[in-house]
This record gives sequence, structure tokens and C-alpha cells, in this order.
Amino acid sequence: MLEAKNLSHKFDYPILDDVCLSLAPKQSIAITGVSGSGKSTLLHILATLLKPDSGEIFYHDKPIYHLTQKSQLDIRRYHFGIIFQSHYLFRGFTARENLELSAIIAKKTIDPTLLEKISIDNVIDQSVTSLSGGQQQRISIARVLTKKPKIIFADEPTGNLDKKTANEVMNTLFDYLKEENASLLIVTHDEKLANMCDEIYKLENAKLIQLK
Ligand SMILES: Nc1ncnc2c1ncn2[C@@H]1O[C@H](COP(=O)(O)OP(=O)(O)OP(=O)(O)O)[C@@H](O)[C@H]1O
Ligand SMILES: [Mg+2]
Repeated sequence: MLEAKNLSHKFDYPILDDVCLSLAPKQSIAITGVSGSGKSTLLHILATLLKPDSGEIFYHDKPIYHLTQKSQLDIRRYHFGIIFQSHYLFRGFTARENLELSAIIAKKTIDPTLLEKISIDNVIDQSVTSLSGGQQQRISIARVLTKKPKIIFADEPTGNLDKKTANEVMNTLFDYLKEENASLLIVTHDEKLANMCDEIYKLENAKLIQLK
């Protein structure tokens, strides 16, 4: 479904060196590695937010960067959902407005049961700037699920959360995958979460090593 071939990328030093990865429909993959090893960079490249120095990314066997601009935008808008490490919510808007914007863009509607599942129903009408880091993180997760993407790219989605809330988020993500037959590519330090995935990789010295 998503296939990355021979990705290489460099900032001040090589971040990715000839990395290959494929994500099948309904499959979940966890990426681990120490801070600064390039996990977020890899996730952004796989989600086609950042163009690698070399290598190709295929979606349903089509090389994404060779498609028309419109097709590329449609894939990002309707098929991909990205949960960023630093949320990127629209500040100055309420949590509900953030979700509504996403729903409108993807031509979907907000699912009220989702808000309950990750315990954000009680803060949904507050401005996102008044929310805690963990609440903002959950709003950003709900915003992505509202789009009903085929692939979720999640960058440490439980990073700011206590155990109970992290569990709610994990279960919600995996329920979503089952309900929507979606795939997940997740960066996480949480062993339990990584182990829920079909495959686990570690990024080390710009190489991607399969652990599971
Ligand atoms: N836009 C950029 N310009 C220059 N260097 C960058 C850029 N983005 C990331 N880097 C560098 O690339 C390296 C990998 O960064 P990245 O954010 O991918 O790591 P990470 O594994 O996600 O780390 P963390 O676990 O702390 O989130 C870091 O040394 C970082 O400083
Ligand atoms: Mg990161």
C-alpha cells in the first residue's frame, strides 16, 4: 500500500541511508530509536511532507512524487492522517473548531463517541491554548481520526500522557484501524504500544533495523 524504496536524507549528517519500508493494508508498524536518530524525519518523509534527498515513495504502486499536484494533495487530504509530535493545532480556536476544520476539509463529520473514548468531550468547547499538553495531544489525535484516513502516521502520540490516558489513546487507535481497515505507522518509545504493532523497527546510525 505504502512503499518506500532506498530513502536517503541528510541534514548536518546522514539521517537516513538507503532505507526501505513497506506498509500493507491493515498493517501496523512501530519505529523506535533514541532521540535525534531521525524518527520524525522518517515519518515526515513517508507521509510526503518532506522530500528525501533520494529514493521513491509509492502509494498503491504509484510513485507519489510523479503524480499530478492535485493527486498528491488528494492523497494527503483524504488518505493520510498525521499526528504530529508537536500537535500543530490552530491556536485561537476551540478544540471543536479544530476538529470541524479537519472534518470540513476531508468532507467528514465529528464522531461524538470518539470524544468520549479519549476523554476530551468535557473540554471540547475550550480554546486549545487553555488545554494541557496531554489534552492538546488527544485533540490532535481526534482531529486526525475525524478525517478517516487510510494510513495514520503518528509521532509519539502517547508521549505526554499518563498510563490510563495512554491506554485510552492506544485502544482508540487500534479500534479505529480495525473498524476502518486502516494502517498505522507509529513512532513510539512506549514498549507496550510498539508491541501491539505487527512489526517493530529501530532507526540507528541512519539504518532501519527490523526487531519484530
Ligand atoms: N529541518 C531540519 N534542519 C536541520 N536539521 C534537522 C531538521 N530536522 C531535523 N534535523 C536534525 O535531524 C536529526 C533527527 O531529528 P528528528 O526530529 O528526526 O529526530 P527524532 O528521532 O524524531 O528525535 P526525538 O525522539 O527527540 O523526537 C536531529 O539531529 C535534528 O536536529
Ligand atoms: Mg521526533
